[in-house]
Amino acid sequence: MRIVVGVAGGIAAYKAVGVARELVLLGHDVHVVATEAALRFVGRPTLEAISRNPVETDLFDGVAEVRHVALGQSADLIVVAPATANTLAKLAAGIADDLLGTTILASTAPLVVAPAMHTEMWQNAATVANVATLRDRGVHVVGPASGQLTGSDSGPGRMAEPSEIVDAALATLRVQDLVGRRVVVTAGGTREPLDPVRFLGNRSSGRQGVALAEAARDRGAEVVLLAAHLEVPAPSGVRTRTVETALELREAVQEEFASADALVMAAAVADFRPEQVQDSKIKKDAHPEKLQLELVRNPDILAETAASAREGQRVIGFAAETEPDADALLEIGRAKAARKGADHLVLNKVGWREGFAQEHNAVVIVSRAGDIVTEASGSKREVADAILDLLV
Ligand code: C5P
Repeated sequence: MRIVVGVAGGIAAYKAVGVARELVLLGHDVHVVATEAALRFVGRPTLEAISRNPVETDLFDGVAEVRHVALGQSADLIVVAPATANTLAKLAAGIADDLLGTTILASTAPLVVAPAMHTEMWQNAATVANVATLRDRGVHVVGPASGQLTGSDSGPGRMAEPSEIVDAALATLRVQDLVGRRVVVTAGGTREPLDPVRFLGNRSSGRQGVALAEAARDRGAEVVLLAAHLEVPAPSGVRTRTVETALELREAVQEEFASADALVMAAAVADFRPEQVQDSKIKKDAHPEKLQLELVRNPDILAETAASAREGQRVIGFAAETEPDADALLEIGRAKAARKGADHLVLNKVGWREGFAQEHNAVVIVSRAGDIVTEASGSKREVADAILDLLV
């Protein structure tokens, strides 16, 4: 993808280096267009080295190649980070007195801006009106976040983090086939307390669930992530609720699914919980030989949610199994699909080295009737998209 990174003159320009860097590492052809003011904050050599392309600023560079429009015409995406109050005003008015302005006016590619300025400037009526104008025109605005600003002040106006800007920018290029849909994703593994310091848990890292949440977000869905002990960061642009136990997860699923279009249960939910949770730490001296734990069954959240789903609500479950034989694994999956009553069941093999905490996954997806609907393998993100294709 050919991506233009526009850099305007604000302190946050140093973070534009991170934006360009991430895009380059993802394999994109990145061209930085900096304003004169931006180059007073970050040096041209840094931007050129990081983007691996010459950095353009001047309207009168490369006039023979009609440089002032060529970059814009050939761009697949334009990201302006930071977008200062001044740059937002110029964009809103269509002013093209520098290369960034002409590049943007000459482009039909998605435009993503990441505002960065002091709170007073962000909240000024002029800026508010300019941002509204840009949004009306379909410009994507990422952030700003609220937090520590350049001086001792803090509040809204801090530029979004580079990874958030990159995620939001690339999302504009993806199919938006879940717009207007509300998707609830569960991720991670529940923990059932034994006493104040110990729990029964499992090895789920939450990677597949987080990939599902990100994929649904990027396809335009409003996403709620119910997170049980993730080993990976929760994604931006998704509402995350953390839960500890299966019973807490059940309550959260019930609350969130009521107004949702779909539930994808990627979390590994404990089937049992200790019958008694001790108020103080279990002492080994009290159990010289053996400690016997009494466990009781947890409710099957997937089965009960599938049973209560309204017309049009979709429920997708997972089944992680250690069965080594592919045919036997499929049979287990079919039986489980029938028992759980979900629309689809995603079947994957797990083991000491398979499935958990890996970047890749390989799954077979069966319908409630037990038919194989699709098979997918690759990164957890690719598997996530294959699962969402079924929802669509
Ligand atoms: O029965 P099993 O644990 O293999 O089923 C896995 C699927 O059921 C997963 O989607 C998991 O999130 C869900 N599940 C559940 N409630 C439980 C146990 C599993 O919703 N108590």
